[in-house]
Amino acid sequence: MIIAQITDTHIKGAGEIAYGKVDTLDFLKRNVLHVNKLIPRVDAVIVTGDMTDEGTPEEFAAVRAELDCLSMPYFVVPGNHDHRTNLLAAFADKDYLSGCEDFVQYAIEDFPFRLVAVDTLVSMQPYGELTAEKLDWLDQCLADKPDTPTLVFQHHHPFRSGIQFMDDQNLRNADEEIALLSRHRQVKHIACGHVHRASETVMSGIGVSIAPNGAHSITLDMSGSENISFMMEPPAIRLFLLDDDRGTVVSHLSYVGDYDGPHPFFDESGALMD
Ligand SMILES: [Fe+2]
Ligand SMILES: [Fe+2]
Repeated sequence: MIIAQITDTHIKGAGEIAYGKVDTLDFLKRNVLHVNKLIPRVDAVIVTGDMTDEGTPEEFAAVRAELDCLSMPYFVVPGNHDHRTNLLAAFADKDYLSGCEDFVQYAIEDFPFRLVAVDTLVSMQPYGELTAEKLDWLDQCLADKPDTPTLVFQHHHPFRSGIQFMDDQNLRNADEEIALLSRHRQVKHIACGHVHRASETVMSGIGVSIAPNGAHSITLDMSGSENISFMMEPPAIRLFLLDDDRGTVVSHLSYVGDYDGPHPFFDESGALMD
């Protein structure tokens, strides 16, 4: 099965440009069209937080209108820019959110690979943290299906990316989460957002990745500077090829936009082109 990850769309109110520069709504439209056109067809989309810029009902209505144009199911989890109650209100008709009240955690059982959403949002704070309640829920959820390969998705990254400003607001009790997840051997991968830049590592044998951004990217600055800025690099999404037979997770970046190609390597006679 193939999963696409869209993250950190930071949708503003109608007609508003983010940070004086980024038409985030237009980028989201392009991301959605891109996912819909991919061959083979994407089975589902995970949306890993910061869907909105300020978490208002108006912003959630705008982001939902675009996500509803996806031709496959999509599953949302909040980021620090989102507002949990407004998120739950905006997506109130989604069955997978029906049991969520204090936090947005759920398991999707519709596919050979299990998808488990983890809510790292701490209200009004940029960093993430998992309360004892959330960790207990996660432990129980994973204990229920020990033999089904599982991909966890969440907003805040549980490692240090090297970008100081973002690492100062990563998942604070990451050690607790990783210790818990590593006890459940079926957990194969953690897909995160928040940093607006593709990055990958391995923690206690579990692959962990951050998705690239489909609009603006955080500047790649590993100097330790506490300044933050963004770049208009080519927008991209992350794709996951999940093989439940082997339990493997292979990830690709897929660039959104019109690029030159595809060009054939071989001519009509089968000879390699000069
Ligand atoms: Fe973000
Ligand atoms: Fe964030």
